[in-house]
This record gives sequence, structure tokens and C-alpha cells, in this order.
Amino acid sequence: MVNESATNMIIGPSPHVSVDGPVLIIGSTGFIGRFITDACLDSGRPTYLLIRSGLTGHFKATIINSFQEKGAIILHGSMDDRDIVEKVLRERKIEIVISAVGGKNILDQLILVQAIKAVGTIKRFLASEFGHDIDRADPVEPGMTMYNEKRKVRRAIEKSGIPYTYICCNSIAAWPYHDNTHPADVLPPLDRFHIYGDGTVKAYFVAGTDIGKYTIKSMDDIRTVNKSVHFRPPSNFLNINELASLWEQKIGRTLPRVTITEDDLLHAAREMRIPESIVASFTHDIFIKGCQINFSIEEPKDVDLSSLYPDARFMTIDECFNDFVRNLVENPKLFKQASGNNNGSIIMPPTNQEALVAIATYT
Ligand SMILES: NC(=O)c1ccc[n+]([C@@H]2O[C@H](COP(=O)([O-])OP(=O)(O)OC[C@H]3O[C@@H](n4cnc5c(N)ncnc54)[C@H](OP(=O)(O)O)[C@@H]3O)[C@@H](O)[C@H]2O)c1
Repeated sequence: MVNESATNMIIGPSPHVSVDGPVLIIGSTGFIGRFITDACLDSGRPTYLLIRSGLTGHFKATIINSFQEKGAIILHGSMDDRDIVEKVLRERKIEIVISAVGGKNILDQLILVQAIKAVGTIKRFLASEFGHDIDRADPVEPGMTMYNEKRKVRRAIEKSGIPYTYICCNSIAAWPYHDNTHPADVLPPLDRFHIYGDGTVKAYFVAGTDIGKYTIKSMDDIRTVNKSVHFRPPSNFLNINELASLWEQKIGRTLPRVTITEDDLLHAAREMRIPESIVASFTHDIFIKGCQINFSIEEPKDVDLSSLYPDARFMTIDECFNDFVRNLVENPKLFKQASGNNNGSIIMPPTNQEALVAIATYT
């Protein structure tokens, strides 16, 4: 629920952000953060990245280098170090803060909120949301614990009076594996589909590049102040049966379909393997309970991105699947990569040799 006093606050001091106002991104090397950072740099805004020091593997170092080449300014520090964050916000005259920290660090944002409030000049804060409307969705545990943490952050923001925008972008465009937090990094299945329930519950699938692009487009739009922005592109509204058929068209063969029942998903959630069980609880919420579609967008606290930008063009699932196939054709070595070895490139799902041969023949 939007705190009224927070909504009122924006009427006095204008939340207007200068077109070139500096942006601070926290979590830029993460799965979602990478898309947002790329889009922010593409927009030409001065972009500061707060990066934790410590172990920096080859993959993370490569990402940071590529951001630097595009003009990002790297600052070292952790979001839960209030002094450092306050110093950065003041000295760099930051106007917009975007957090894309992962599930383990959601509550660290409470310190960030304190720092933003203390500095008092931030025109907009986008907390780490980038999924469902967490005030409406009602997943089973352990997903609920994460949503309760995100809710705590929302309430702290609203109480603080900091102008905010919640990005509810729904599912990332990819095959929705029920045990993988970053499905866009994994090829859709090549041997069999897991169909959740009867496979008829629809969801919205948004390409990572569009999550980045429209987060940046809406972050300083006056119409999104203190609102939840919902990404519901009509062109990307599919159920899992339709998703499977589309992928079959792309790979030129049909695959067996194995039903994963509601009980199977609940069992996977109850196993409490983190993060897989969290993903299982969200999968249950999306494809059994319909958490993305069981409510309507209610003014004034909600806004549909497509109504803000009627000309917005989203990458379709068809195009996203073409990209997966293109990736396979251009990188035959992907066939050899094992699942779980996520170095940031597309990896193979667990599959059998026969499926690989079939795909290799097709491509
Ligand atoms: N819609 C979807 O389909 C979807 C899918 C996945 C995630 N999400 C959501 O997107 C958000 C981001 O999740 P993710 O999976 O992208 O996260 P992630 O890949 O785990 O990345 C988290 C990022 O935050 C950084 N970070 C964490 N704690 C920090 C701190 N104290 N100070 C500075 N940086 C810190 C990490 O840096 P280090 O490298 O130092 O660890 C990393 O860059 C979450 O809210 C998640 O629920 C949505």
C-alpha cells in the first residue's frame, strides 16, 4: 500500500530529475543489474556503479571492464556501509539510485534507505524488485520470506518519504525452469518439457534488454513517481503449452511433455534447498495460482508501462527464442557445456545425447 504522506511529499519539493542527473547502480554485475546498467549507459546518463571489493572472478572483471569502456564510473564499496554510501551520494550529486541486489541481500537495502534519507537530495529510488507485485503475490515458503523482506524495504521507503518507483516486470523471457534463478542464461529444453499443471495459466515474459531499457525510461518519468510500473506486453503473454510449441517450431521437432503437478512444485518448495526451492515456490505462484494475472492495475498506485509508452516495442518471445537458436548455431561449443557451469554465457540444460544430435542436425 502506498503511504499517503510519501505521496504528498512529492507535491512540495519537485521530484523532477535533470535529464543528465547522475545515476548510482548497485548490483550492476548481477543477472538483472547487467541489463539495467547497459541500458543506463546506452541512455548517456552519467552512471556510477557501486561494486563490492573482494573476490572478482574473470567473468565479473570482464563485465566491469565492458561497463568502464562504455563510460561507467566504478566506485568501490558495499551498500550496507552507510558512511560510504552517503559520501558517494553527496560527492557525486547522485539523483537516482537503482538497486538490483539479489535475494540474499534484500534487507541490506534498509541501510541504503537510511543513507538516501539522510542525504535528502535523491529524486528517485528504485529498490531491487524486478519481478512480481510483492504486495499482491502470495507464494508459499520459502518464496514468501523473500517477499516479506522486499515488503519491509517497501514500507521503509514509503515511511522515509523518498520518491520511489517499483518495477514489476514479471518473468524474464526464457524457458521458466522451476529450479533455476537465472533462466535466461540457460537454453530452453532439448529433450523434454516440464509442463506445470495443465500448462494453461498465462504469464508475461519480458526480454532482459527490455527490462533494462524500460526501467531506465520510466525511472525519471514524473508519471511513475511513487507507483508500481507493471510490464504486461500483450505480445509476450503466453502459457507454458504455447511456449513449448513455439520452441518446438524453432528446433524443428516435438519433445515429450512431462507434467509437473502442483504437488510436485509444493514438494520442491518444501525441500528448502535455497535458491531452488524459492524458484519452485514462485513457479507455483505463477503457473498454478496465476499471480501475474489475478489482479487488475489500479490507478493511482499502479501504472501499466504500455499505457505510458503506447509506442513501446517489446522483443517478442519468438525473437528471444530465435536468439537462443542463433547462439547455438554460432557457438557449437555450447553443446559441450554442462549445466551449472554458469560463466555468464548461455549454457545447456541437462539433456541427453540423442536430443543434442537432433538439434545439431537441425542447425
Ligand atoms: N523477473 C525475473 O525473472 C527475475 C529473475 C532473477 C532475479 N530477479 C530479481 O532481480 C533482483 C536482482 O536479482 P539477481 O538474481 O539479478 O541478483 P544477482 O545475480 O545475485 O546479483 C546481485 C548483485 O548485487 C550485488 N550486491 C549484493 N549485495 C551487495 C552489497 N551489499 N553492496 C553492493 N553490491 C551488492 C552483487 O555483487 P557481488 O558480485 O559483489 O556479489 C551482484 O552484482 C532481485 O530482486 C530478484 O528477485 C527477477
